[in-house]
Amino acid sequence: MSKITELYQTADWKNEKHVPAITAPEKVKGDELFDVEVSVGKEVAHPNTMEHHIEWIKLYYLAKDSDKAVEIADARFSAHGEGDAYTEPKLKASVKLNKCGKLISTSYCNIHGLWTSEVDITVEA
Ligand SMILES: [Fe+2]
Repeated sequence: MSKITELYQTADWKNEKHVPAITAPEKVKGDELFDVEVSVGKEVAHPNTMEHHIEWIKLYYLAKDSDKAVEIADARFSAHGEGDAYTEPKLKASVKLNKCGKLISTSYCNIHGLWTSEVDITVEA
């Protein structure tokens, strides 16, 4: 049986439609709000049908020298064509940090499983 860490797949989001694409500044000022957007299918669209869709995206922060990730945001996408309504897999968050670290995202496709990506973020005093 696999450990859950072995079940997360990753790749370049520009080529693989399942990988969450994190859009955030490379450098931010400590204690100042900045915007983070995470979307699946940013470059290569992912299907959004009842049979095949992205169910959720989560965003975490891992401070440098820490081994405990902090959950920053969580978005669940519930409409995939029922009633002719669709929720696109995009999460937006307004975030404030005080230490350099990483933004880590995970997402879940109901057919193709768990995906992840991360970006470094520099926090200046
Ligand atoms: Fe998929």
